[in-house]
Amino acid sequence: MADTVRAYLDLLRPYCKETPRAAVILGSGLGALGDRLEDASAVDYASLPGFPVSTAPGHRGRFLFGRLAGVPVVCMQGRLHLYEGHSARDVALPVRVMRGLGAEILLATNAAGGINTGFSVGDLMLIEDHINFTGQNPLVGPNDGTLGPRFPDMSYAYDPALRALAERCAAACGIRLCKGVYLACQGPSYETPAEIRAFRTLGADAVGMSTVPEVIAANHCGMRVLAFSLISNMAAGVLPQKLTEEEVLEAGRQNGARLERLVTAILQNL
Ligand code: HPA
Repeated sequence: MADTVRAYLDLLRPYCKETPRAAVILGSGLGALGDRLEDASAVDYASLPGFPVSTAPGHRGRFLFGRLAGVPVVCMQGRLHLYEGHSARDVALPVRVMRGLGAEILLATNAAGGINTGFSVGDLMLIEDHINFTGQNPLVGPNDGTLGPRFPDMSYAYDPALRALAERCAAACGIRLCKGVYLACQGPSYETPAEIRAFRTLGADAVGMSTVPEVIAANHCGMRVLAFSLISNMAAGVLPQKLTEEEVLEAGRQNGARLERLVTAILQNL
């Protein structure tokens, strides 16, 4: 695995003029933030031999290198998902590559269904912890000790100091920030109402199909993680209506600017 990461680092370094402080993953419908990068250069995943490509709607599928709010970042404009058929290891690969480029912080975003009935569509949720319901883990298989430990601790998977910073920035920007537990399913079918009731009992506040594999890999390789969910819809059965992919992408378009303001404020205050 370390050899694979090194090979991609050699290909990407020419595009990465400054050591990135943070790696930013832009989730469903939230890719517009990538277009705000200053002095940006872009590398399509598809141009990297053997690199997994992003086929999900609303995901551009490229790395961006540049500055956001004056801070050097590497950005994934579009992520990889288990439901696309990628292994958890492949989903985690870009995180390891971004860590190899020097990023010490992972800032991840996603769209998620609201399980907590106190949430509304358009709310931003600071992820405090997660439940891995995907049945997969990117660290399965031989452990490469040069990347991280065999049994990484996940007690503080979402860095407490970064979470406190996010709360301060949200308050300063006048942005309502909910907090909660993100539960990841493999997808691609949405959940049933019975599953959502069960997940609520388990302590989940939001449900989605991403982020957890990347966060596990980031913890493994020693990154500090901060992650947000945009509540793009209420989860199945919460409202008497069907779920659609279009409403998820539309929520990103409608509310992405608020998340951008928050991310920008956080980067300015790192
Ligand atoms: N379930 C799973 N994934 C999602 C949802 C949902 O309701 N909304 C956005 N991603």
